[in-house]
Amino acid sequence: MESRVFELIREEEQRQKENIELIASENFVSENVLKAVGSCLTNKYAEGYPAERATGSKGRYYGGCGVVDKLEEYACDKWREVFGTDYHVNVQPHSGSSANLAAYMSVLSVGDTVLAMSLDNGGHLTHGSSVNFSGKLFKTAFYGVTEDGYIDYDDLKKKAEEYRPKLILAGASAYPRIIDFEKFYEVAKSVGAYFMVDMAHIAGLIAAGVHPSPFGLADIITTTTHKTLRGPRGGMIFCKKELAKKVDGAVFPCCQGGPLEHVIAGKAVAAEEACSPEFKEYIKQVVKNTAACCQRFKELGYEIVTGGTDNHLFLIDFTETHPNLTGKAVQDALDKEHITLNKNCVPGEKRKPSETSGVRIGLAAMTTKGWTEKDAIACADRINGIISAIKC
Ligand SMILES: Cc1ncc(COP(=O)(O)O)c(C=O)c1O
Repeated sequence: MESRVFELIREEEQRQKENIELIASENFVSENVLKAVGSCLTNKYAEGYPAERATGSKGRYYGGCGVVDKLEEYACDKWREVFGTDYHVNVQPHSGSSANLAAYMSVLSVGDTVLAMSLDNGGHLTHGSSVNFSGKLFKTAFYGVTEDGYIDYDDLKKKAEEYRPKLILAGASAYPRIIDFEKFYEVAKSVGAYFMVDMAHIAGLIAAGVHPSPFGLADIITTTTHKTLRGPRGGMIFCKKELAKKVDGAVFPCCQGGPLEHVIAGKAVAAEEACSPEFKEYIKQVVKNTAACCQRFKELGYEIVTGGTDNHLFLIDFTETHPNLTGKAVQDALDKEHITLNKNCVPGEKRKPSETSGVRIGLAAMTTKGWTEKDAIACADRINGIISAIKC
């Protein structure tokens, strides 16, 4: 009898084939990434780091790590190549949240202050939310966005001077515009704070050179590998060389145990792919598709946060144009039509996070499936038709 698990995997495979996937943080990995993640490397324990790592590593705690040592070094080298950097890199974080936890633990003590973007303005739970370790372990202050939805750099400076944080964090889960890392760097340096960037969403754009790079400016850079980088689910940390020992120690033994070498193999495959000219073309197409879809919604009379997008996502705000409509109602109506996106808070949000007044739309996944601008425009028209039929 076949395992129930494989029946369910086939069911999910079918869902992924048939649905229109507009969740901005999702993507479809290559067969080679899947193969690496499903490989025998899952059997190997490898607590520690490759022995030759020049960060005070004592090597691995288990025998038989010769191959995974080579693999992990290769993954690190490839990711440095992707971003054209000589930063130290740690490819062991199990997720973006684990990467952020380890990044904080590397340079902060419990009770230190972090200044980050607030969740309802586009930040992530791990950027200081009271329900997350970040808000429980550290004091947090937040900067926001201006009325037109752009990062409020004056507010950032004011809050930095008021709270004197030990670390200033740039990066977001729902911000459609270019982030000015130079401005963040200047503010961080002016108050003697560490400058950290969580580039989880835009890492692919940075790799392809279509978003300014934080390398050279940020002390620590975290990312997920599964969004625009199109790798397996996981995290990574880059840091300036002088922080390498602290970051490695924060990942293991402070925050994690044995690394997931099968996932690290998948990350290495994704890095090889991200080095290719095809990846750059893919990311350029993501940005074009997102702009085309966003523009169509504008033409159809929708209000877009900041009036547009520079990256792989945009936010529709229903507050003025459809006051009775919630992000949840739209998400549910689209789900029934096999279109997947997520409800999202909008700047100045009045509704609960479980309801919201907006939705977030991302085109990275459907661009992987081969979409061009005309598909993105047709999708906006179809969504508009479904929204128009919602009774509220
Ligand atoms: C900016 C940002 N950082 C961190 C994370 C956390 O990543 P993970 O879900 O892998 O823990 C996310 C997830 O969406 C994110 O958007």
